[in-house]
Amino acid sequence: MIPLNALGRHVAPMRDDLARIAAEVIGSGFYVLGPGVADFERAFAAWCGLAEVVGVANGTDALELALKAVEVGPGDRVVVAPNAAMYGSSAVLACGAEPLFADVDAEGLMTLETLRAAVVGGGAPKAVIVTHLYGQLAAIDAIATWCAAQGIAVVEDCAQAHGALRGSRRAGAFGDIAAFSFYPTKNLGALGDGGAVGTRRPELAARVRQLRQYGWSAKYTNALPGGRNSRLDELQARFLLAMLPMLDGWNARRRAIARRYIAGIRHPDIRLPASAGDDYVAHLFVVRTPHREALSAHLKASGVQTDVHYPIPDHRQPCFGGRYDDVVLPRAEREAREVLTLPCFPELEEAEVDAVIEACNAFPGV
Ligand SMILES: Cc1ncc(COP(=O)(O)O)c(C=O)c1O
Repeated sequence: MIPLNALGRHVAPMRDDLARIAAEVIGSGFYVLGPGVADFERAFAAWCGLAEVVGVANGTDALELALKAVEVGPGDRVVVAPNAAMYGSSAVLACGAEPLFADVDAEGLMTLETLRAAVVGGGAPKAVIVTHLYGQLAAIDAIATWCAAQGIAVVEDCAQAHGALRGSRRAGAFGDIAAFSFYPTKNLGALGDGGAVGTRRPELAARVRQLRQYGWSAKYTNALPGGRNSRLDELQARFLLAMLPMLDGWNARRRAIARRYIAGIRHPDIRLPASAGDDYVAHLFVVRTPHREALSAHLKASGVQTDVHYPIPDHRQPCFGGRYDDVVLPRAEREAREVLTLPCFPELEEAEVDAVIEACNAFPGV
């Protein structure tokens, strides 16, 4: 079976280095928020072109603390796209705020138009979460410009988009504040959970530093409401620091695979992503088909693993108990029915890429 992901292959060449780092950390006596965390925060901020990065426990916490840093609180409304597995919506709910759903375009991204349509009629939202889904940079420049004029804070969800580039700016450097996940399958992934908040605005970073540790302004002084325990540990930070120099190469390899798929897959029932430029770091390679069950069964029979990112739009999730039944977002709902993810990770071999292309092209249809 050609797997969707193969973390064993990814980590194998780094095994000895990672084992040495683990031994160093174990011997160091620092395990949480130690010098390795500070080193990684500085290195990742420089790589992203951000003033500061603050390590936290995971990407969902990063979104929540980013929202709290821009002062989202109970009763506020936050715009989210509903096709990103509830990550943004969960963070909004954790702030006591309410998600306001915006539809997406044919590539699964919020646009300025869908954002504006979502805010028509209600009171102004406090913030918007722009998810750079599948590793594709959304129309963040236009959204950030419009939101700045409206006084709406922009939180970029970069969990799938480390390094996606437009002009000279990387994901996270467009909005007010950005969230990253280092879940193991991410383009930069730890060997456990990890996340970070990044920003060009040092005053927001200072708030996140307090929020990630109980809201403390000084030890045992809980100054900021909404504080949490959400710290990045030393082991993961040191692993991430060691992997960071390889991230550009991994992203380039992912993008090369995506380009091979786009050049090679030719089938009337399979729609491919529009392009694979520098603004796409190919975290996931997602095709659309009206015959998803049949295509995924055919690929499985041909030895190709697939997955669906994501099958249930947020506004249809059972946790809401029908609260958004009257909300209709045609494109996001269609995405949930039609998206199918093909294997795309840096260690995928050329012969495997060929086999995936051949299997797609041999889909008999329904
Ligand atoms: C787009 C997006 N946002 C947020 C998250 C949440 O990250 P984590 O799993 O580290 O909480 C993820 C990944 O899981 C994600 O893909």
